[in-house]
Amino acid sequence: MRRDPLSYLATELNTLKEQGLYRKLRILEDEQKPKTTFDHRSVVNLSSNNYLGLTTHPRLRACALEAIRKYGVGTGSVRTIAGTMDIHMELERRLAEFKKTEAVVVFQSGFAANAGTVSAVLGKDDVVVSDELNHASIIDGSRLSRAAIKVFPHKDIDAARAILKSLPAAQRKLLITDGVFSMDGDLGPLPALCDLAEEFGCIMMVDDAHASGVFGKNGRGTIDHFDVHGRVDIQVGTLSKAVGVLGGYVAGSRALVEFLYHRARPFLFSTSHPPAVAAACIAALDVLLEEPHIVDRLWDNTRFFQSGLKALGFNTGASEGPITPVIVGDGALAMKLSDRLFDSGVFAQGIAFPTVGVGKARVRTIVTATHSREELQFALDTFGKVGRELGIIQ
Ligand SMILES: Cc1ncc(COP(=O)(O)O)c(C=O)c1O
Repeated sequence: MRRDPLSYLATELNTLKEQGLYRKLRILEDEQKPKTTFDHRSVVNLSSNNYLGLTTHPRLRACALEAIRKYGVGTGSVRTIAGTMDIHMELERRLAEFKKTEAVVVFQSGFAANAGTVSAVLGKDDVVVSDELNHASIIDGSRLSRAAIKVFPHKDIDAARAILKSLPAAQRKLLITDGVFSMDGDLGPLPALCDLAEEFGCIMMVDDAHASGVFGKNGRGTIDHFDVHGRVDIQVGTLSKAVGVLGGYVAGSRALVEFLYHRARPFLFSTSHPPAVAAACIAALDVLLEEPHIVDRLWDNTRFFQSGLKALGFNTGASEGPITPVIVGDGALAMKLSDRLFDSGVFAQGIAFPTVGVGKARVRTIVTATHSREELQFALDTFGKVGRELGIIQ
């Protein structure tokens, strides 16, 4: 009989189970809503990135259905052969207008946008200077580029400056940060990083996945929030979180976008978005521009929930937006808190090493514009009850 060459995978999974790090996928049996059903249990959902509730917005649904009727369900090709529809080009035009840049290229995901862009614009003689908490897609793109990778401690401008100073002036350098850090909800120090990029002649890149639709006027992102328009060469945004659909994009100069059309491997070698995705994203832009009260409601809910957690005595870290961690330190305790919350009707994902540093395990919460005050109050009461039972708060 043939020996299973993949038998080591079961061993690795058992190790994860022994370490309490094995993850069972929670199954959503309803729409992605603030109160919904996972694993047959009705819960207040504090785990989605659906910041504005657009996954179920009637305008997005209607436009997606209309696109299916007009174009069908798939494109049948990569963008560079036969898979660019007029609706893809319209989405890129609309996004460029929204982001106030010359041009935009849309990728299949934010992950593909980051990884595909960093690996395309850099080569083996270049260097990436990157915040230690930058997203995995930036790390993977940097590795794929074969450039040298220099990591600076989280938001430490002096350390970034020391790295840049040590590099040859003629070497091509990419300085890169997340706009919003996904596990802590804090902001990258964009103005100071832009100063550094200008001083040392770096390409400046910001991954604004969690800022798209959340920060800045009408949700234009952290470049707008900090008013550093024109100082960031490469802006990455996602269409998969607040925009409510799927995809990622790169906003910048026309030359950057045309170069990525020719050299970004996920763009070249993977089929384009179904037309319904592009249509729903265009409708989401209309909603951002015409229904800005949704973004206001997100911020009202964020202030209400975050101040409630703080008043209960939880450590909410350095959050500056709707992502609010409840930091407990120990990985097993974070998982226990998450499980007990779930059993009591609140879904907030536990996150431990290696996703966050050792001793920084947490339950991560994300409120949305569509949570009602009653749902958020219920979540706060439940956090209070379970937190006291587990001795996390008094
Ligand atoms: C900071 C950051 N960048 C990029 C991404 C990738 O975005 P997408 O889900 O659209 O692939 C994520 C999503 O997890 C993220 O948190």
